[in-house]
Amino acid sequence: MTYVIAEPCVDIKDRACVIECPVDCIYEGERTLYINPWECVDCHACEPVCPVEAVFHENDLPARWAQYRSVNAEYFRDAPGEGTGRAARAARADHPVVAALPPQHAVKNDLSGFAARKEETVDADPWFPW
Ligand code: F3S
Ligand code: F3S
Repeated sequence: MTYVIAEPCVDIKDRACVIECPVDCIYEGERTLYINPWECVDCHACEPVCPVEAVFHENDLPARWAQYRSVNAEYFRDAPGEGTGRAARAARADHPVVAALPPQHAVKNDLSGFAARKEETVDADPWFPW
């Protein structure tokens, strides 16, 4: 069992999860971070601190991000110990699934715009004129 970082982290990389993790098992790629399943002790500290709700227990991953269980594991598969120690902390190339994503800032800004438009619609509701 392990926790997984999914797509909302891509191009955000808030890193609050890194500060909370007691075993230092969250590693940085160029566009997202990855949890090493061989090192995670399932403590749950990372999940509630992520501001974009990118962290999930592997059994709770939404279906649309199910592949991120493999994405996190495959990032370390060929070198489970890679990234251990300060010298290896520099961000390295992303998993191909993440690397192939379009820039996510534009996608996430579009969602903010949608929320703003939804607010305008609610304000204009004749049943709630105040
Ligand atoms: Fe990413 Fe959230 Fe951690 S944005 S770096 S999973 S706090
Ligand atoms: Fe660390 Fe989160 Fe696992 S805080 S130990 S990656 S559950």
